[in-house]
Amino acid sequence: MSSHGPDMTVNVAGVELRSPVIAASGTFGYGVEFEEIVSLDRIGAFVTKGLSKEPMQGNPTPRIIETAAGMINAIGLQNMGVRPFVEEKLPKLRQMKGAVVIANIFGYTVEDCLDVIRVLNDAEGITMYELNASCPNTSHGGMVFGTDPGLLRELVSRTKEAAKRPLMVKLSPNVTSIGQMAKVAEEAGADAVSLVNTFVSLAIDLETKRPRIANVTGGLSGPAIKPIAVRMVYEVAEAVKIPVVGMGGIVRAEDAVEFMMAGATAVQVGTASYADPRAVENIANGMKKWCASHQVERVCSLTGSVVL
Ligand SMILES: Cc1cc2nc3c(=O)[nH]c(=O)nc-3n(C[C@H](O)[C@H](O)[C@H](O)COP(=O)(O)O)c2cc1C
Repeated sequence: MSSHGPDMTVNVAGVELRSPVIAASGTFGYGVEFEEIVSLDRIGAFVTKGLSKEPMQGNPTPRIIETAAGMINAIGLQNMGVRPFVEEKLPKLRQMKGAVVIANIFGYTVEDCLDVIRVLNDAEGITMYELNASCPNTSHGGMVFGTDPGLLRELVSRTKEAAKRPLMVKLSPNVTSIGQMAKVAEEAGADAVSLVNTFVSLAIDLETKRPRIANVTGGLSGPAIKPIAVRMVYEVAEAVKIPVVGMGGIVRAEDAVEFMMAGATAVQVGTASYADPRAVENIANGMKKWCASHQVERVCSLTGSVVL
């Protein structure tokens, strides 16, 4: 082990990250909001909110509720739109020392996604794209792409052709075989896959007999989904050769280690940031300590180290 402790760098699709811990899309705003709270140069990277061609209002409220060991959300991709992001937020991000920005892309159609990519391609300060093929809370686009192999193939191959940066494809867990969908994304040119997005779920208020989320269904995230997400990461890592970025219910450093053992090259942390805005940084620090105390010299050696 070097005098600086374990080597925490990982390589995702040719991009070297100083830590495997990344802040997940939709739970870290546009990054700039967290400036005072989290040192962006201490975490691997952060993923922006989903960016669409035009601004989106999102779904009616209530759109977030707490559940046992997690939360259900149906935000519906509320965002300022890609152009205002590039003009208003990105210049601030460029000034923030060490911030590694992954832009999350959303579109109702393939053409919409291509328009977003074209705007981002011309902007400086973005390291990678994450294509959201998995949002469960919009009536079209999102999960519709991620649950149909033919549509996913078309979406990924055309965005890859347009993208001037590495393309990571975010997969839906709401499928029978996520390994098969990952294979489709890989064959279509994805440089990496990330998983999981949220699980379609429903909660009912017994007194009013109404769904507790105005959208009726929403996406379940947080510790409740972790064992399913770890299993899916394992299946995907078996199915593809490209890097796998794992997420779903990571709260502690040990959770992140578990995802890496299952086959993840890096991990993302979402819901945990709601309870503790410093969660991503704390998990990154905790992983380094965990590696040191377990004589792990290079964190990347954890990837796929599960013993069967
Ligand atoms: C409030 C909220 C908003 C989200 N918005 C997005 C989004 O805009 N794009 C996206 O790809 N995923 C979005 N997600 C999904 C998360 O990035 C992540 O995949 C999921 O929550 C599982 O990880 P977690 O259990 O650590 O939260 C959102 C999740 C939450 C809880």
